[in-house]
Amino acid sequence: MVGSCNSCDNCSNNLENYCPNLILTLASIYHDGTTTYGGYSDIMVADEHYVLRIADNLPLDASAPLLCAGITVYSPFKYFGLDKPGMHVGVVGLGGLGHLAVKFAKAFGVKVTVISTTPGKKKEAIEILGAHSFLVSRDPLQMEAAKGTMDGIIDTVSAIHPLLPLIDLLKSHGKLIMVGAPEKPLELPVFPLLLGRKTVVGSNTGGMKEIQEMIDFAAEHNITSDIEVIPIDYVNTAMERLIKADVRYRFVIDIGNTLKAF
Ligand SMILES: *[C@@H]1O[C@H](CO)[C@@H](O)[C@H](O)[C@H]1NC(C)=O
Ligand SMILES: *[C@@H]1O[C@H](CO)[C@@H](O)[C@H](O)[C@H]1NC(C)=O
Ligand SMILES: [Zn+2]
Repeated sequence: MVGSCNSCDNCSNNLENYCPNLILTLASIYHDGTTTYGGYSDIMVADEHYVLRIADNLPLDASAPLLCAGITVYSPFKYFGLDKPGMHVGVVGLGGLGHLAVKFAKAFGVKVTVISTTPGKKKEAIEILGAHSFLVSRDPLQMEAAKGTMDGIIDTVSAIHPLLPLIDLLKSHGKLIMVGAPEKPLELPVFPLLLGRKTVVGSNTGGMKEIQEMIDFAAEHNITSDIEVIPIDYVNTAMERLIKADVRYRFVIDIGNTLKAF
């Protein structure tokens, strides 16, 4: 985001991300009527309230996805109190959001279990990212064995998927937090929620103050996104690869070095 109304309840509470008049970094109309081009430009002018400090030890390219995927997963850990050492949090989907959720969970001292439809991601989840365990969501035996063990789950999946198996993984008072955005409504089984006083809730990015806090925390714990840097004339191929989920885990366009060629 690069602007908001600066006067509503949300803005007054450092929740610019929930302002009804939020101005997005890209393809929004700015206060002066111009279109925002975000990072797809070699320079930009911004209100200082929407500018962040990136610590020197963080590489800019691998930090860029923290500003979207990073805050999207960091904010619910904090807001829903899932950042306490010893807690057990599940992360559904191991992509751009999911791999950062694993990194933040580890830095909080939280036990983290990756839940995925793809058994092939187990090695990546455990050996490379350091998740404590891995569940194949389509394996009823594995899911059954993990029932009632989690304080919270961060669900990053944007495809239609069943919620019941995830709700079952929660302890009483557990929270299932949706940060992916399925295009169609999901079915919500209410009875299992009543039985354990469980919560299903959504969360969208975070405000400027919390984004700065997340960046500083990431700098302290050496957390960056795993990225593939591409030149700008590769974007069409990158889009095709994104559809096939063929990227680990975010593309970053090297604007500075490649835009000027056009
Ligand atoms: C705060 O944000 C929510 C979500 O965008 C919105 O529904 C609500 O109207 C906002 N509050 C005010 C006072 O604008
Ligand atoms: C972060 O990286 C620096 C430099 O490699 C290292 O000195 C420091 O111990 C690391 N901190 C953590 C929390 O891993
Ligand atoms: Zn506002």
